[in-house]
Amino acid sequence: MSDILTHIDGGVMTVTLNRVDKKNSITSAMYGAMADALAKAEADAAIRVVLFQGHETIFSAGNDIGEFLNKPPAGKESPVFRFLRGIASFPKPVVAAVCGPAVGVGTTMLFHCDLVYAGDNAAFSMPFVNLGLCPEAASSLLVPQMMGYHRAAEALLMGEPFMAEAALEVGLVNRIVPPTEANGVAQSQARKLAAKPIASLIETKRLMKKGQARLVLEQMDEEGASFGRMLGEPAAKEAFGAFMEKRRPDFSKV
Ligand code: COA
Repeated sequence: MSDILTHIDGGVMTVTLNRVDKKNSITSAMYGAMADALAKAEADAAIRVVLFQGHETIFSAGNDIGEFLNKPPAGKESPVFRFLRGIASFPKPVVAAVCGPAVGVGTTMLFHCDLVYAGDNAAFSMPFVNLGLCPEAASSLLVPQMMGYHRAAEALLMGEPFMAEAALEVGLVNRIVPPTEANGVAQSQARKLAAKPIASLIETKRLMKKGQARLVLEQMDEEGASFGRMLGEPAAKEAFGAFMEKRRPDFSKV
């Protein structure tokens, strides 16, 4: 079965990350499929809302680390950047259901969703520094904005995970539910949105986001350039090598 499943019903396109044996880590093919799904959802008038979901035990372990080593994203037209630009500027509502770990892009993509429902087992983390990298998806702008600088520093400089309750407190998630119910609750909220007048949804979202829409894309570009460079540097190579070899990284020489 495909690693990304899409299903359209009741005006909602549900996009399911379906690579559970690899903790829903995201390959370039998966980013490409998600970018294509967003493009289809934007163009198709019958699709009014997009819902991203994973499994009740795992949302996503972030970018596939093997690909970071062997097939790093090349340039602005690479699937990951197509996906990130697509979700950041998607005009219709986007809902997410998040259970278990949401690592790296598994968390940063949520800053571009309109409604987020979390299982009580959700654990969010952005360990870019611990991987010798820097933030992506405009998270260096949006995380401090949402959480305040010092909590953002814990999340982004220390790479400390935070749980569903903390995410609720800072406003990253709308509601915490039992993991077995998260996808269902998110689906039900998405259906409620899909029943509303689409032009009003689109205009309201545009007005809420317009103040910094351009800034978000500029930040994403700047982060992307740094991230791309850092992927090839010794700290990141050490971090990825350590992950693949199931050992702790040693940054003493980088
Ligand atoms: N890329 C590639 N493979 C990954 C992966 C990733 N980001 N995350 C997990 N996997 C793979 C593991 O290599 C393992 O594969 P194997 O069974 O062939 O050995 C499998 O998924 C299960 O992972 P494991 O680490 O044993 O699961 P866990 O339940 O103990 O831990 C996580 C789950 C998500 C906490 C842990 O896998 C993790 O920290 N992953 C890396 C997250 C990360 O740094 N992502 C990059 C962000 S930019």
